[in-house]
Amino acid sequence: MLDFAIFAVTFFMMLVGAVIYLMPSSRKATSVPGLDPTTKEDGNLSDIGRAGSLHEFLLDLHGRFGDIASFWMGRQLVISIASPELFKQHQNNLKHVVTQSSTLCYTVFMFIGNINTICIQVADNLVKTLENKVKEEHLSLNQYMIAYAFKTVMNSLYGDAMDDEKDIIAMRGHYDIMWSEMEKRIADPTVPEDGSPRAISLNLALKEMRKIVQNIIDFRKKNGKKSEDYLLIDRIVEHMKTEDGIFSEILTFLIGGFHTAGNLLTWAVYFLATHEEVEKKLLKEIKNVLGDDDISADNYDQLKYTKQIIDETMRCAVVAPWAARYQDFDSELGGHKIPKKTPVIHALGVSLQDERQWPQPKIFDPERFNEENIKKRPHLAFSPFGFAGRRVCPGRKFAYLESAICLVSLFRRFKFHLVEGQVVQPVFGLVTHSEDDIWVTVSKRK
Ligand code: HEM
Repeated sequence: MLDFAIFAVTFFMMLVGAVIYLMPSSRKATSVPGLDPTTKEDGNLSDIGRAGSLHEFLLDLHGRFGDIASFWMGRQLVISIASPELFKQHQNNLKHVVTQSSTLCYTVFMFIGNINTICIQVADNLVKTLENKVKEEHLSLNQYMIAYAFKTVMNSLYGDAMDDEKDIIAMRGHYDIMWSEMEKRIADPTVPEDGSPRAISLNLALKEMRKIVQNIIDFRKKNGKKSEDYLLIDRIVEHMKTEDGIFSEILTFLIGGFHTAGNLLTWAVYFLATHEEVEKKLLKEIKNVLGDDDISADNYDQLKYTKQIIDETMRCAVVAPWAARYQDFDSELGGHKIPKKTPVIHALGVSLQDERQWPQPKIFDPERFNEENIKKRPHLAFSPFGFAGRRVCPGRKFAYLESAICLVSLFRRFKFHLVEGQVVQPVFGLVTHSEDDIWVTVSKRK
């Protein structure tokens, strides 16, 4: 066992600002080029606010100072890295580190055998819903895609214990409050005062969420579980020692799995609706590989172009713009000393938009991910799920599978048309979403 520990601060759970703001001042000089604090108290927080988001701030920071750059969040020095070479170095630095919290989620998703069936069921229901909407005008793409992602994660976690639509809607409401609180704290890390409307609403959401989760755990315990019906929640309950541990593990999965995949799918359908030649190639692949069959373990790996679309969507839309680590040992990056307790941001989105690896990075082109082009790039240039240590995204296989099932189910039956006159603007929060809903109409394929 190593005698140091690391906090892997996941991009959505970390509440970077809040943690950093409360930490003691660390004004140690660094040789890493970067910004001086604009004010003593806030560091460069106001610059981040002016940039619009941490991702946009990092794009500018790295444009000015290079692949490794420093800035100040409150009184805390922060280092950001944005190249495959530096990613590799940090990966090596963290190779032998034991994470402080559970490593359960790293492996657990690989054990769930029935995800395929669950996603196909949810996708079939979505197709049925959309069949009744063909005549309607303006459907919110975000709403349908996010609902699909929510249901697939919920059903995979909880199975039939979460069948009640009322519970799902309630859970979604509580979750939305928590998510919006996290997004607010990235922009302004001040923790809302006890008794303030924000604090009351957050505490209530947490309490209600906890009740629902407890009911599910009780249901699973009471009804037992068969091996073919082994769910993520069963594994979490078996492995976590405390109720708090169970609850936070479940929340992490919900948070990790739902906005990411929902927005990924929203952007994918948007790109497909606006790139007819890509849509044609997708339809050809569906016909050649699947015919009228569902996706299964036998044919999934042959859906190469579908996977290219998913990869290019994650890159072009920058679905998850950054991750971070906060390590309690000294290290070195890019020839610079990184003192312990210095947060290191992985500017995944900056790297995904880097012209050196991705010429004309704003253009959506799945051919960037054909076999020949993949070979030309350093492996870590494409790291949309993180890259360092044991806490890279454990849901990545799940994300590809649920996305492929959704895209295949929808596109073989419908054509999506973007409602004219919209300006689609990305907002780079914890996850990149569109500023306003993206409105589409659907028509049935012959
Ligand atoms: C669209 C796809 C997704 C993207 C782009 C994405 C991206 C990421 C990234 C960047 C991280 C942080 C990694 C790091 O700190 O190094 C992460 C963590 C995580 N993701 Fe994903 N993710 C996606 C889908 C999912 C899904 C579908 C699930 C689960 C169903 C999931 C569950 C998690 C969890 C639980 C963590 C935290 C891991 C930990 O801290 O140990 N993600 N994800």
